[in-house]
Amino acid sequence: MSESVSQRDAFLAGEGNNFFDRHVGTYDSDLSPLLEKPLDFYCRYLQPDHRVLEIGCSSGHNLNYLRTRAGCACFGVDPSEKAVRSGGDRFPNTHLSVGTAERLEFADGSFDFVLFGFCLYLIDRSLLSRVVAEADRVLKNRRFLGITDFDPPSPFVRPYKHHIGVNTYKMDYSRPFTVYPHYVLVEKLSFSHTSSAFADEKQERVSSVVLYKDLGAGYERAD
Ligand SMILES: C[S@@+](CC[C@H](N)C(=O)[O-])C[C@H]1O[C@@H](n2cnc3c(N)ncnc32)[C@H](O)[C@@H]1O
Repeated sequence: MSESVSQRDAFLAGEGNNFFDRHVGTYDSDLSPLLEKPLDFYCRYLQPDHRVLEIGCSSGHNLNYLRTRAGCACFGVDPSEKAVRSGGDRFPNTHLSVGTAERLEFADGSFDFVLFGFCLYLIDRSLLSRVVAEADRVLKNRRFLGITDFDPPSPFVRPYKHHIGVNTYKMDYSRPFTVYPHYVLVEKLSFSHTSSAFADEKQERVSSVVLYKDLGAGYERAD
């Protein structure tokens, strides 16, 4: 099932705003326990002097939660101009900007923690390796990366029901990072898209992972 429409272009052109309009109620009030669970998991890796980036942040509800709990400085990028504007009004202590994951307007090594929350499953396959490279580029060495996404036992593709020609791709997104020996899986939480219990139904399975980047590790010396 090949892409006939660029997901990135569709989200920049209006699907990002449509997504925000469809979900604004979910993020309006306090976050549900289901949304808080992965964030509490990530908080254990955050310190008040950390700079955190969420890629695909919508209006910054996750970032606001992390900032409130961990005291870190929070930055976010999302293609929805409407979500970014709304988040700027609601959470003035977060720094949100319009953009997409394959081209981040930040310097190399500028973040202590980089987070993808249900973003990678949307990314065009033609851009996935660039997205991985960008997250790696902006993450400092010896720091952590968090990914919350659908996590079936084997990858599958399905049409994105809100936009003809766009697909969604569900797979274990720690793999494009841990293929490099200098990324290791530190912890993994496995739960369901609809409850905090483990999902028997494999298409409902979701996970949050924490990966550690250490450029000086993972390779045995053979001088
Ligand atoms: C399912 S929502 C998740 C929102 C939030 N991260 C969360 O965990 O609740 C996916 C978000 O990714 C954004 N997005 C879609 N395509 C993107 C891309 N190519 N680059 C960055 N963000 C993207 C969407 O606009 C949307 O806000």
